Amino acid sequence: MSDLSDLEAQILNGVKSTQDLTALEGLRVSVLGKKGSVTELLKTLGGLDPEARRTRGASINALKDRVTAALDQQRQQLEVAVLDARLAAERIDVSLPPRPNTEGKLHPLTQTMDELVAIFGAMNFTVATGPDIEDDWHNFTALNIPPEHPARDMHDTFYLRSAQPSNGAADSAPRKVLRTHTSPVQIRHMMAHKPPIRIIAPGRTFRSDHDATHSPNFHQVEGLVIGENIHMGHLKGCLIEFCKAFFEIDEVPLRFRPSFFPFTEPSAEVDIGCDRSSGDLVIGKGNDWLEILGCGMVHPKVMKNCGLDPERWQGFAFGMGIERITMLKYGLPDLRPFFDADLRWLRHYGFSFFETPSLERGLAP
Ligand code: PHE
Repeated sequence: MSDLSDLEAQILNGVKSTQDLTALEGLRVSVLGKKGSVTELLKTLGGLDPEARRTRGASINALKDRVTAALDQQRQQLEVAVLDARLAAERIDVSLPPRPNTEGKLHPLTQTMDELVAIFGAMNFTVATGPDIEDDWHNFTALNIPPEHPARDMHDTFYLRSAQPSNGAADSAPRKVLRTHTSPVQIRHMMAHKPPIRIIAPGRTFRSDHDATHSPNFHQVEGLVIGENIHMGHLKGCLIEFCKAFFEIDEVPLRFRPSFFPFTEPSAEVDIGCDRSSGDLVIGKGNDWLEILGCGMVHPKVMKNCGLDPERWQGFAFGMGIERITMLKYGLPDLRPFFDADLRWLRHYGFSFFETPSLERGLAP
């Protein structure tokens, strides 16, 4: 029997010293495979007499079991070691900061909208939204712009195809539009909420107008305040406070110029004082004026259209171009790159995700 224990010792030594899964498989085949050393031993049993065959057979089978178990155990250990090595090699430290090129930037328009929310949020305004695709009533009629009104022409409206009624009859309902301003959000909000109201509504707007200073898709922010004693002084104070905070200057020269909008009475356009004499645009001083927004006291007819009693409620509204104030604040001379999706421009003019604007910390880094 000592030949068996020699063989077993030799195999077990071999198993222990094998540190690689492929080599271990080779060893298994050389022991237990068709021509393996243990398989060959079993083949010799046929030449023995029955008594000897039984005892030697039992010993060889026991040896085979122990060898098999040793091989399995070693294989499992090696597999765990392989997995550990892979986990260690492929480890990623997710807490490391991104390296320069992989850091995304916020578009200047997004930054401005975040700043608007921070500034008006501090004045207790909340943010309201409405759909980009509007019906004629919310975009025009409810705002006191009736079907034949010339103000409709000034809006360069994008009309959608009319919906085909299923019975094939001609559809008489006015076609939907891409909203030409954020003012329909005033209507939606007054219809859905009781005053007092204090909201801003930043968002996309569309007009079929395209040149160096106009883009068919642009952005506005609407403001609406409704209460029982709201007057023009509140409107002026609110816009002056906004301009001081947004342009980060203590004194802002603002000029309220009489104007006309069908949905406000009286109406005004607001210009901000600036200086262009040096070639660069400087906000807050100088002898030049730049228009930044339209505003006025909400027209009694608009109130009535929304089910509010104009004898009881008064309010003001304003609408401001977000591209315009962004270009002024950050000295961006051209509107077109805003919509080019050019990553080089975005990396240069964009803002970090981690610097959320707040009044306490300063608005922009
Ligand atoms: N909706 C107007 C425009 O797009 C701006 C505006 C809003 C004017 C609210 C007055 C009051 O030109």
